[in-house]
Amino acid sequence: MPDTGTRAHGGQLLTPLGPEMRRVLGHFCTGVAIITAHDGRRPLGFTCQSVTSVSLDPPYISFCPANTSSSWPLIREVGALCVNILSEHQQAVCAQFATRGIDIFAGVSWVPGGNGAPALQGTLASVEADVEYEHAAGDHTIVVARVTGLRAHADRGPLLFYRGGYGGFDGGRHA
Ligand SMILES: Cc1cc2nc3c(=O)[nH]c(=O)nc-3n(C[C@H](O)[C@H](O)[C@H](O)COP(=O)(O)O)c2cc1C
Repeated sequence: MPDTGTRAHGGQLLTPLGPEMRRVLGHFCTGVAIITAHDGRRPLGFTCQSVTSVSLDPPYISFCPANTSSSWPLIREVGALCVNILSEHQQAVCAQFATRGIDIFAGVSWVPGGNGAPALQGTLASVEADVEYEHAAGDHTIVVARVTGLRAHADRGPLLFYRGGYGGFDGGRHA
């Protein structure tokens, strides 16, 4: 018989206020990526965990920039971007691209990808894509981008983000 009370699996059913959304959804472990583009004058980028594979045919990915993002309007203007999937030793890169008011590319090695967007060195994979759709979604935007090229690099471990902290992936089998 279903439990219609406020408790499920021992936890209290919470009202979805900001801190609760952040804390409970933080149980969904993700990787971390840096979304980059180049506007012809300078490289752009920001740290992003909301990356998802959406469709194989056509090849779509999605991610969600906050409405407060200062780099997203500039990256959107370029249209061609790169999703740089971070490896476990790139926690400092993750933090750097999540910090405002600094030179986020300082000390970071990168090369222009096939579409001109910066491909960061030392990552797990690079996914080049063109922005195709944007959907307003509260305080974020859901971006759907068409993949135009992709590359997996070395057999390194991923940088994982879980409950506000970072870790690696120990074990498992690779497809
Ligand atoms: C692990 C991690 C994941 C993040 N994921 C996102 C995300 O999915 N979307 C987003 O807009 N910001 C995300 N951020 C925050 C941005 O990286 C941060 O606000 C950054 O300073 C935005 O830079 P900008 O204003 O130059 O665009 C994340 C930060 C961290 C540390």
